[in-house]
Amino acid sequence: MFRTGMIVAALAACLAGGLARAQDMSPAEEARMIEYGKEIFKTKATCQFCHKWDATGDQGYGGNALSLRATKLTREQVMEVVKCGRPGTNMPYHDRFAYTDKRCYGMTREMAGADMPPGANNEYLSPRDIEAVSRYLFAKAVGRGAPTFEECVDFWGKDTRQCDSFKK
Ligand code: HEC
Repeated sequence: MFRTGMIVAALAACLAGGLARAQDMSPAEEARMIEYGKEIFKTKATCQFCHKWDATGDQGYGGNALSLRATKLTREQVMEVVKCGRPGTNMPYHDRFAYTDKRCYGMTREMAGADMPPGANNEYLSPRDIEAVSRYLFAKAVGRGAPTFEECVDFWGKDTRQCDSFKK
């Protein structure tokens, strides 16, 4: 009994250590991860088609894609929504295996029925991709006010006309 307790405690300590390490990435690693997350938002998962480049959200194709700048979700919750989509809405799921088992909100495709969200617009995402896009959003969008010209250039680069509307 005592022994088992010790092993469990040691395992828990190991796990906690692993998590702590994953969280304190070096600034360079973190910057790479955020840059990669931007590519996912922009191209690989085309989140911007529905949420707009600045993540302010949009009405139109896909319904009312919420503002991710104004979201109240935690990073964990954002990752869950990206992975599982949101049943009853057009927010797609990005985990290839979502709803094949009960990993998403305890629901299978059969249980979700008519509320089954659509699958990824473009490509499914790996857990690392999902981690990266969530880090990107929290670094560049969540909790920020109105988008700025600088953010626009940061997203599109300065050789496009995408940001002309910011100029007076
Ligand atoms: C086909 C359009 C579409 C695409 C593509 C899309 N979304 Fe969404 N998203 C939506 C809609 C619509 C909602 C609103 C769901 C609702 O009403 O609860 C939403 C909601 C969300 C939410 C919940 C916000 C909140 O505050 O509750 C997050 C987070 C999110 N999307 C992130 C993403 C990310 C990241 C991607 C790319 C990996 C993405 N979305 C791709 C349409 C889309």
